[in-house]
Amino acid sequence: MTHPKVYIETYGCQMNVNDTEVIFSILAKEGYDRTEDISEASVIMANTCSVRDNAEQRIWGRIDQFNIQKKEREDVIIGIVGCMAERLKDKLLDSHKVDLVAGPDSYRRLPELIAAVRPGHPQIDVMLSREETYAEINPVRIDRNGVSAFISIMRGCNNVCSYCVVPYTRGVERSRDAHTIVREACDVFHQGYKEVTLLGQNVDSYLWKSDDGQETVNFAALLRMVAEVSPELRVRFSTSNPQDISDEVIETMAAYENICRHIHLPVQSGSDRMLEKMRRRYTRAWYLDRVAKIRSVMPDCGLTTDVIAGFCSETEEDHKDTLSLFDEVCFDTAFMFYYSERPGTIAARHYPDDVDIETKTRRLNEIIALQNRKSLESYKKDIGKTFKVLVEGPSKKNPEELCGRASNNKMCVFPDTVHKAGDYVTVKVKDCTSATLLCELSES
Ligand code: SAH
Ligand code: SF4
Ligand code: F3S
Repeated sequence: MTHPKVYIETYGCQMNVNDTEVIFSILAKEGYDRTEDISEASVIMANTCSVRDNAEQRIWGRIDQFNIQKKEREDVIIGIVGCMAERLKDKLLDSHKVDLVAGPDSYRRLPELIAAVRPGHPQIDVMLSREETYAEINPVRIDRNGVSAFISIMRGCNNVCSYCVVPYTRGVERSRDAHTIVREACDVFHQGYKEVTLLGQNVDSYLWKSDDGQETVNFAALLRMVAEVSPELRVRFSTSNPQDISDEVIETMAAYENICRHIHLPVQSGSDRMLEKMRRRYTRAWYLDRVAKIRSVMPDCGLTTDVIAGFCSETEEDHKDTLSLFDEVCFDTAFMFYYSERPGTIAARHYPDDVDIETKTRRLNEIIALQNRKSLESYKKDIGKTFKVLVEGPSKKNPEELCGRASNNKMCVFPDTVHKAGDYVTVKVKDCTSATLLCELSES
């Protein structure tokens, strides 16, 4: 008998990518095969994101596309899972365009839900959990290079940044059993992976206690445990919160060569007034102090960020504070957005979304233009330096070149027809763009 096939499109953050891997693992146990060809799938799913309105709009468009498949093959099941499933629940079912809606904590029930779908009888489970961490599930890796794997170490978020929908779609924070995390890191290393990225909305607040209360593991301790799996296994993590990143974490990074020198530290705004309104629990001065601490312990540490332009009541003065912070810190790269109001959040309930779209766009473009110059400045600083790079595969543009990341997360490309994905090589930086270091192989 041929197995039914499942096709999943993944949107949103790295946690969603890892969740898709968890879903494939759960479904594989029940006899489903994964396919990348939508036309042969009997179950078509989108693992969705709600973080900004345009993320959701794209998915509504995809749901219409999926329904074209259903016109040709009536028994196809269309499912929406992930954050948008959690947020829109009944609205998705009421659209009569989907057969299945499952939130981020309901994936163990997917086989049962899929089996119960009948024409006109869609299935839904959007219960959030206080415990679910999918701790013992071995995700089916969907990456293509076999070099770098995601490992979720916690779920949910206990912060209530006023603009953010994530606490509503993913529920309360819970930390996964540290030993299952280490076991998963060991497993992927033995399968040939050379890098793991530990994922959580706020990794610095990771705190796991054993049931008997005898053992407590914080994020710094977890980093040590994973780093000790093998010196050949690189460890990355995301996302750090400026409020919670501790000296202990920074010093732990410095103590292990295989914990990569890169911190993604979302700032969101350079204005104290905005930070307070965003309910971020730090000030500009605190943020700059964390950056100074990181750079004093690890002068070579890569630093990237997220920022939101045009949050409620943002003035030109507030915006200038963001620009001056970007100028001062000199991030390697940044993910830059304009504010998108999310229904149900504190900001949506209490503050008018009163910066007009032209102003939001103009401010965002000013931040982008500045950051492009700063990226180039940051990449230029690496010219002449030597880096150990983990090869990810051929470069996109030239098959005679390989690409891979330096410890600081910058992408390096270099002519090389000998090495392969998963090898470590030493390169010297010759030149750069604002997003790539152009290198050549070096003796070491
Ligand atoms: N947990 C992470 C971020 C998760 S969301 C953290 O706290 O940093 C990823 C990024 O999306 C955020 O850092 C923020 O910059 C952006 N974002 C979140 N909500 C947004 C909204 N309503 N409008 C625009 N950008 C938003
Ligand atoms: Fe959202 Fe803030 Fe939690 Fe990040 S820390 S997921 S921005 S509420
Ligand atoms: Fe989006 Fe949910 Fe991630 S809202 S950013 S997929 S946690």
